[in-house]
Amino acid sequence: MCGIVGYVGNNDACPFLVSGLRRLEYRGYDSAGIATLTAADGFRLTRVAGRIDLLEKSIARKPMFGTIGIGHTRWATHGPATEENAHPHMGGNGLVSLVHNGVIENYESLKQSLISRGYLFKSATDSEVVAHLIADTLKHLPASSIANNSESIDRYVEAVRQSLDQLRGTYGLAILFRDQPDLLIVARCGSPLVIGVGKSEQFVASDTSPLVGYTDRIVYLADHQIAVLRPDSIQVQHRDHGKIRPDVQTLAAQETEASLEGFEHFMLKEIYEQPQSIRNALRGRLDRDNATAKFGGLNLTPQQLRSVKRIILTGCGTSWHAGLVGEYLIEELARLPVEVEYASELRYRNPPVDTDTLIFGITQSGETADTLAALREMKRKGHHTLAICNVVGSSIAQVADGGIYLHAGPEIGVASTKAFTSQLVVLSMLALYFGRLRFLSYEAGQRIIRQLEQLPETIEKTLECHGQVREVAAKYASASNFLYLGRYYNFPAALEGALKLKEISYIHAEGYPAAEMKHGPIALVDENTPSLFMVPQGAVYDKVLSNLQEVKARGGPVIAIVDQQDSHVMSLADDVITVPQAEDFLQPIVNAIPLQLLAYEIACIRGCDVDKPRNLAKSVTVE
Ligand code: AGP
Repeated sequence: MCGIVGYVGNNDACPFLVSGLRRLEYRGYDSAGIATLTAADGFRLTRVAGRIDLLEKSIARKPMFGTIGIGHTRWATHGPATEENAHPHMGGNGLVSLVHNGVIENYESLKQSLISRGYLFKSATDSEVVAHLIADTLKHLPASSIANNSESIDRYVEAVRQSLDQLRGTYGLAILFRDQPDLLIVARCGSPLVIGVGKSEQFVASDTSPLVGYTDRIVYLADHQIAVLRPDSIQVQHRDHGKIRPDVQTLAAQETEASLEGFEHFMLKEIYEQPQSIRNALRGRLDRDNATAKFGGLNLTPQQLRSVKRIILTGCGTSWHAGLVGEYLIEELARLPVEVEYASELRYRNPPVDTDTLIFGITQSGETADTLAALREMKRKGHHTLAICNVVGSSIAQVADGGIYLHAGPEIGVASTKAFTSQLVVLSMLALYFGRLRFLSYEAGQRIIRQLEQLPETIEKTLECHGQVREVAAKYASASNFLYLGRYYNFPAALEGALKLKEISYIHAEGYPAAEMKHGPIALVDENTPSLFMVPQGAVYDKVLSNLQEVKARGGPVIAIVDQQDSHVMSLADDVITVPQAEDFLQPIVNAIPLQLLAYEIACIRGCDVDKPRNLAKSVTVE
């Protein structure tokens, strides 16, 4: 959701800016723009409503020169996706140009006050307000005492600092000044920014992906920090407490450039990466000798963990679905009460939470605004907060008191696939760990470890169902509604299957516990509404079969996911997809594969933009 890039150095800025924006495309956007600056010609601006391809064509027609520049992909919040609303925005009659990620909550009152002082607004955005505000603040700072260039730069930094003091909300900002053609100022509060440190050049981006291949030395900017970037220097300061020594880290080798490697879409590539991503999630975390799991970063002693009485799992979307599976797992294996909360509700709901409650935020991106806010709120109340997170160094990873990384590698497709199954693997290991601290026997622990170790291979075999899924997709791609049904561990799996279909194929789909059908949703069943049932062998097999028959008896087409040559189901279902057998607790991971593939194939048949579905963003950084 909104991407920022910036460059200051001795090379042409434009190539990095464009390639950086391309690498941020996965975050989701609907317009894009770039500003470059030269001492001779001032700012040059190119903005488009639409994709980066369009931006590139526009730049090819009117090339942009300059060794300093900023770029942005915008996911519309205030005002529609038009060229006028696209960033960069100009302030103070061409004095300032900036890009902004986040939401300025008090923009309306600031705007009115700036209008009354003669500033003209060209967009409906909250971001343009910041550009004018900085220009206005700068205008009012005395310039007379400025003796040399470094003092003069202090004046620009001070203008930014004073302007930020007036903002309420969230921001990641990259700011240029017409009169300082080698000065790039960036600031962060709630919206991520990473600085790439080069040789006589500095880079800025919303995450590390644009920096790969340019530099491996990075500085994660923290909230309330401002960085002053010039070709040969980086100076970081806290908004209120002065200068800080920048913490330069090395970008991990595996964070390489994302490429399709022969797959048609990132989503498909990521579905096929799951045997490996699951291996990565398991690596080094299973302790056979003690029949348990081990984690390096929980930052709690076994004694402290033993005294935990309750767990809250919080997240959004797919990560919330992972939390639901986590609830079943932890309650069953560890006999610990678990609650799963939408982060967007938890942050404002103020439930009574005992001191011995542990809070886990589950998030692929580590940047989801609601999850971040919910964790902050819980932390403020004194709870130990932990993150189950994929993106190293992300905001949530930084805010939490500890956590577990998924190690799934970059997930580029907007629809979460491999991160979801890795979340489930981590939650299974957590359940095993808590279980072994409490009532789970050594033998039961060993059995779970064996099953987890087997899982990557099981997933490899599961991927063989792709051919069957393709046939099912061809048959039902024109449906307007879908029902996804399962019980026990497969109820959250049903919710996740329905979400996958909705988000990339734009077909309305609902997930339900199969037995709930007769309490209302069965009224939806007709010959045009396919119902997908997960009917593997296991604790609730017979029960699900009865629910399937109820739908069949009402003339609804039935697709069944089974885990053996199940003649009974085959005689009832219109279509069958076969997956390998797995224990109940692993079935949501196995069944995720055909559900992801089905959504993918249907979306392709319907001609949808699989990796960048309409209206959606990969990192949801606004609430
Ligand atoms: C998943 O397919 C969705 N795109 C979305 O629901 C996502 O899971 C949600 O926005 C939470 O994101 P996070 O895991 O990065 O916090």
